[in-house]
Amino acid sequence: MAELNRRRMLVSGGALGALGALGMASPAHARSLLPWTWAPSGSVAGSGAGDDPRWVWDEEADPLVASLLDRGAVPEVNRLLWNWTRNDQPLPAGLPAELRSFMEKARQLPSWADRDKLDTAAEFNKSRGLYLNLLNGVGGGMLSTAIPKEARAVYYSQGGADMEDRVAKTSIFGFAVGSLNAYRPEGSCVVESVKTRLVHAAVRHLLQQSPHWTGDIPISQEDMLVTWHTLPTFAMRRMLEWEVPITRAESAAYLHVWQVTAHLLGIRDEYIPATWEAANAQSDQVLPRNMGPTREGVELTDILLGQLAEQTSPGGISRPLCNALARYLVGDRVADWDGIPREPVWDRLVTVAWPALVKFREGLVPLPLVPEVAWVLDEAARRYILFYLTKGAETKIEIPVANRPG
Ligand code: HEM
Repeated sequence: MAELNRRRMLVSGGALGALGALGMASPAHARSLLPWTWAPSGSVAGSGAGDDPRWVWDEEADPLVASLLDRGAVPEVNRLLWNWTRNDQPLPAGLPAELRSFMEKARQLPSWADRDKLDTAAEFNKSRGLYLNLLNGVGGGMLSTAIPKEARAVYYSQGGADMEDRVAKTSIFGFAVGSLNAYRPEGSCVVESVKTRLVHAAVRHLLQQSPHWTGDIPISQEDMLVTWHTLPTFAMRRMLEWEVPITRAESAAYLHVWQVTAHLLGIRDEYIPATWEAANAQSDQVLPRNMGPTREGVELTDILLGQLAEQTSPGGISRPLCNALARYLVGDRVADWDGIPREPVWDRLVTVAWPALVKFREGLVPLPLVPEVAWVLDEAARRYILFYLTKGAETKIEIPVANRPG
């Protein structure tokens, strides 16, 4: 009973959660002028200056990586870091001294990291892997293209010209977070997070040199929080809507693995939500003012959905079905911003089939209640995961040295 009440509270806490709040009447521009009111007392730090995260970046990594780029040291750093893959692995010899000392510090788990919770999270990630990979991969991908600053950053950065490789690289990180040994010595979550922190620092420096980039320094702490909420906060809200049974311990542990990851990505502790309630409140503050349509986002969405249809085609899944799945995951408003075409037949089918499939997998409904098309979706989700597991194994996260050519 307590479980049910908590579920109801979490789901109703934001209507359609993070995205329900996007229905706000005021235009994005007006919302962007709203002051930062989220209290640091709701963070894992428990206190903080309350600085507006729109004007905070990464004061440790940014100057360091900018200087590496300016003196042409990054290719050698990438070469040295290529085989740095395990959490417990010493850093390779030969790294510039200031980078080594930054990385030694950056790779430490925060003092508040809880091993037991991380283990519970790993089990949860394994048992709910299908939903989480779909929500974080396809769902998160479709949300990121509806975040103008992120869509434009991705489009005009080096990786924007080769989205298959970019998604494969991002999957390396995603699979590291979701793996059973994520934060154990033999895992790789610390490595991929610290590498990603360096990549973001490089992007901050490089994009400002792009003739296509207008506006402030990219990837502020607020931008990081926005993307973070499109991952765990979005996924948790969707799973609750699908009535996936989640215990209190699993819910807390899943939040925890993402809190630790946020810290390792360079998000300040004073901005990392301590509870789901604080996370939902923060998500409702930052997402509405940071989402909307862009030409670049529409183009990236089209490329991503084209790839999804191609990778899953042996299972017979068509582009219209991919469109419908994507629309279902992120909702109409974001799908329209992304320019995802409406699919009158498939949209209706997916809306019925996916929740039925989830309920069947969770033992909540018998097989006859699952429409046939659900198995096509199930198979497509598996193929999608396998494709990027394979692709990801062929590549590594590397610090970019340039922007998108042209
Ligand atoms: C690169 C994850 C936030 C823009 C990456 C990579 C990962 C990643 C794993 C490395 C893969 C690659 O190099 O392609 C994340 C996570 C975030 C986050 C987990 C938040 C929790 C953001 C935000 C922006 C952004 C807010 C922009 C506003 C980029 C760009 C690249 C990148 C432009 C580099 C692409 C290139 O290589 O050219 N991110 N990211 N990221 N990220 Fe993020």
